[in-house]
Amino acid sequence: MCGIVGATSRTGAVLEGMIEGLRVLEYRGYDSCGVAVADGERIEIRRKVGRLSELEKLLVDGALSNARIGVGHTRWATHGKPSDENAHPHSDGSGRLALVHNGIIENYLELRKELQAEGRVFTSETDTEVLSHLVGRELARGASLIDAVRAALRRVHGYYAIAVMANGANGGLVCARQGPPLVVATTADAAYLGSDVLALLPYTRDVVYLEDGDVAELAPGFARITDIHGAARERAVRRITWDAEQASKGGYPHFMLKEIHEQPDVLARTAFDRILSTSGDVSFEHGDWDDARLRALQRIQVVACGTALHAGYVARYLIEHLARIPVDLDFASEFRYRDPRLVEHTMALAVSQSGETADTLAALRLARELGAWPVSVCNVMGSTVVRESQATILTHAGPEIGVASTKAFTAQVVAVFLLAVRLGRARGVLSVEQGRRLLDELRCLRPRMEALLAPHSVERVGEVARGHLDAKGFFFLGRGVNFPIALEGALKLKEISYVHAEGYAAGEMKHGPIALISKGMPIVVVNSPGAVADKVRSNLHEVKARGGHVICVGSDRESFELADEVIEVPQTIEPLSAVLNVIPLQLFAYHHALARGCDIDKPRNLAKSVTVE
Ligand code: M6R
Repeated sequence: MCGIVGATSRTGAVLEGMIEGLRVLEYRGYDSCGVAVADGERIEIRRKVGRLSELEKLLVDGALSNARIGVGHTRWATHGKPSDENAHPHSDGSGRLALVHNGIIENYLELRKELQAEGRVFTSETDTEVLSHLVGRELARGASLIDAVRAALRRVHGYYAIAVMANGANGGLVCARQGPPLVVATTADAAYLGSDVLALLPYTRDVVYLEDGDVAELAPGFARITDIHGAARERAVRRITWDAEQASKGGYPHFMLKEIHEQPDVLARTAFDRILSTSGDVSFEHGDWDDARLRALQRIQVVACGTALHAGYVARYLIEHLARIPVDLDFASEFRYRDPRLVEHTMALAVSQSGETADTLAALRLARELGAWPVSVCNVMGSTVVRESQATILTHAGPEIGVASTKAFTAQVVAVFLLAVRLGRARGVLSVEQGRRLLDELRCLRPRMEALLAPHSVERVGEVARGHLDAKGFFFLGRGVNFPIALEGALKLKEISYVHAEGYAAGEMKHGPIALISKGMPIVVVNSPGAVADKVRSNLHEVKARGGHVICVGSDRESFELADEVIEVPQTIEPLSAVLNVIPLQLFAYHHALARGCDIDKPRNLAKSVTVE
């Protein structure tokens, strides 16, 4: 949720780099932000509600520019509204320490009472402030910073990524992880920490991902990792193979637009090396994907949230259709509390871009405890979901910065298509020839995606999207594999343009929601040739008869004749139509939001990675 940075340097100032780090992490949360730096004996904290630009106004005096140690934070509020007082860093009033935190301290009320009873004064509504006081109390008793942090963490329940700095003889920089991600790195003269590797890329590509229970002590050129009792822990250094350029806008006005345009390459990176043309099959790298194991599967349980769940719906359709395995699907947040029952030989399939979504992770853990085989489709190597899975299909979408997920979704859909083919081949449902045909068709998607992203096609979508700026609400309808695409189209529009949009199974409209249709209401109908195309056409008639203004997206020509407006998509086989049909819907949301003047990459109330429950 929140973004954290920290740095300590022997030779250079750290503030400017930390601000740049916060800028790339702003996607994680952006309702307030702050920094703390130490210059000699003094710890200075500056924090502000609003975006980073507001904080920068507090720094123009240059007074903190030479500091060599600091921590910074960009917040997505959980406990306490966005305000200057609730913004991080927090302190304990001693002027000796500053602390930033991502996560939730569950027993903070009880700890707060205990600390207040000792005369400690709290100045915010956050759960974080108890951590600063716990650390401050230990420092006041003469503990070193690392010992003070370990002692404080032994008192808290919950999950956190924290970074703490303190001045004086027992000061320094320490960070710890229990839940939300944290990455550290050292160079000859400095050490850095961040809640996303993106913040460290300007300094180095060799990083260490902390694991749950790790506490790291950082000094220039030095990092030591222990557990909360002080026992040493060894962590491998990982080399990041993509560069900072891939995480920049590359000339596009918004990350979202850039990421939409990256999709043909994402398809190639996620799929092409895995295709085994001769055997009409697929190979995956991480985990045991043997035929025997796949043949034994009785069921697949998908757990995911938001857009990733929509990819899960596509997985259900594809796997049941191509591999004949029953697939269940749950919101991860529901699965974990509904006392689920799993049959023997169940694959628990977590789908997640970030690999850090708290609900998805908890659902995966629960499924594993219930005996399922934990498998993931994930975009972030080294993320918690990947580490806790026994097999993973990495989506190679590259860093996704736009809060509204686009290329990660397409990559997830491609990944679950590959999984369906692999399962179908392993279980003998698909022949070599059938496997080949499906995979050949997948290869052909690249030029078709490029056609959808050609300037005239993008402009056509923009024209349609701008034509409905006065609409009070939208329906997005689809069936079969395009039902989740309708859900995704509606979610994209809601997220970034704040317009009410409902995604619905087209056949379900007549059971209630059709009552909402009034004259001229825009109804986006997603339809491509296949088993349900004629059914969708009937549903299209139904909404049109109630005065709906139908915008048809897809490649079903017969639907075009019934529609008021058409966004044509190149044709492919039905199981892959989802991959193409979603692209104009992403562009539709983008252009609608742009015309409404919305903040596309940082929509209100949202954060990129939801690491709290
Ligand atoms: O990182 P994850 O894929 O696990 O995230 C899941 C959802 O939070 C995410 O897809 C969210 O719905 C996006 N904002 C959608 O654009």
